[in-house]
Amino acid sequence: MESIVPTGIHGLDKILSGGFPQGSVIVVEGAPGTGKTTLGLQFLYEGATKDNEGGLYITFEELPNQIYKNALSYGWYIHKQEASNLLRIVSISPELLMQEVGKQGGLFEQIVQEVNCRRVVIDSISLFRYGSDNEETLRKKIYTLRNILRKLHITSLFLREQTYDQSDTTAFENYVVDGVIRLSLKPLMVSHRIRTLEVLKMRGTKITEGEHNFNFTDAGIYLSPLYSMVEDPALSQPALRLPTGIPGLDDLLQGGLPKGSVFLLDTNSRANYEYIINGIYFERLREGDRAIMVLSSTTPLTLLQQYAKMYGVSLEEEVRQGKVCFIDHYNRPIPAGFEKSTICLGGMDEMEGQRRVEQWLVSTDQDPREGKEWVVFYDFNTVYTYRGAQSTKRLFADEVARSRTNGSTVLALCNFSEMDPELASFLERVGNGIIRTWVDGNYQYLQIVKSPGGYMSAPRMIENISGYPFIRLV
Ligand SMILES: Nc1ncnc2c1ncn2[C@@H]1O[C@H](COP(=O)(O)OP(=O)(O)OP(=O)(O)O)[C@@H](O)[C@H]1O
Ligand SMILES: [Mg+2]
Repeated sequence: MESIVPTGIHGLDKILSGGFPQGSVIVVEGAPGTGKTTLGLQFLYEGATKDNEGGLYITFEELPNQIYKNALSYGWYIHKQEASNLLRIVSISPELLMQEVGKQGGLFEQIVQEVNCRRVVIDSISLFRYGSDNEETLRKKIYTLRNILRKLHITSLFLREQTYDQSDTTAFENYVVDGVIRLSLKPLMVSHRIRTLEVLKMRGTKITEGEHNFNFTDAGIYLSPLYSMVEDPALSQPALRLPTGIPGLDDLLQGGLPKGSVFLLDTNSRANYEYIINGIYFERLREGDRAIMVLSSTTPLTLLQQYAKMYGVSLEEEVRQGKVCFIDHYNRPIPAGFEKSTICLGGMDEMEGQRRVEQWLVSTDQDPREGKEWVVFYDFNTVYTYRGAQSTKRLFADEVARSRTNGSTVLALCNFSEMDPELASFLERVGNGIIRTWVDGNYQYLQIVKSPGGYMSAPRMIENISGYPFIRLV
């Protein structure tokens, strides 16, 4: 396997799964002031100081003095590395470089040997454009350079100035290189900007997609990889997981819903959540767990029976074994045989409702404290519509408390955007995890936006499939 060259830049190696594949040629593009020079220098400095790898900085634009000063502002005293033949700053014209690189025993080859060069930075390849009368010669120069560096197994960064009018087009340079990193300055709120780094392409290594924020610190670039900044080791203890059975979702959940957690499924009105809820509900039943289902306004028991057939579960049998319980806020018809397992809360006050549920748990001898897995499926949209914000809040707090004491796992459907904002923020805060699903264009997406371990996932697409469980994430 190809070896990996760590960049040594905090966070960057993490999103590159270790670093750049050795010998690859990578374009680092960005508008003026986005940090290209800093990234290039840091790559060489880290290589020289941490990995004892020789580096060569070729600049067309700035004088070496400028580069030393720049480096010194981050505390990189590169004269020292130069003295020990681990670094070389070369200020040269693009024409001269092109003449020398191809030459046997030329200046380039000499320097490469002198510093035992493993890393090269060229600042910047944009200047090639000026010396080239047409695209063809420009292309040839980039190819030549790329091939020579590749052959020498030197990992190289080609810095490229991104001008405003090109920001949406892909420069041809990006096609011929192995990787592309884009640095940007993005507006943040009203009067701030945030620096971001995105890996657009990297052959031969797994990358974490998305725009990652970074800062300039006293020690150079410090990048915070997306979604993984708030990992709390105390909370990410491997708890027992209850797999959802939905392909892709269990990976995002690191195995499934953590036992004893309270998860919210935040969905907007256009998103189809039935398959997510049903998929998890029937998967848990198939796995032998017990479940309480708070029926939503759109899913009466009779409809749930139909779903059960589709998912290959006999609800009648589950009822006979006392493993399921249904709670209905509307006094809808109860199918024959389901009477003892259905609690109709219509017209009942919530205290009474809670008491009935507790009673039911004890009467069935299915107390979760007995080591039996219980999963509670809630529909807070229904509760909210039916009983209002205050009751929903109380009910949720009770549910969380109960789950803490008896170890049941809760999945509650809600729609934050259509709820009272104070209630929504309460639910978001108190819940251990949030799975968000939404529709954008012609696709539905799903993302873990909160989890007990602090982990957030990238958004994933939901795809319908013909067999059980009828959806999967891609
Ligand atoms: N020591 C430092 N601490 C914090 N920020 C710094 C430091 N040194 C430089 N900067 C900031 O980093 C910015 C970008 O630096 P850099 O020269 O790496 O960008 P660049 O993309 O190479 O820009 P250009 O296109 O002008 O060459 C500077 O404009 C400055 O605001
Ligand atoms: Mg620069």
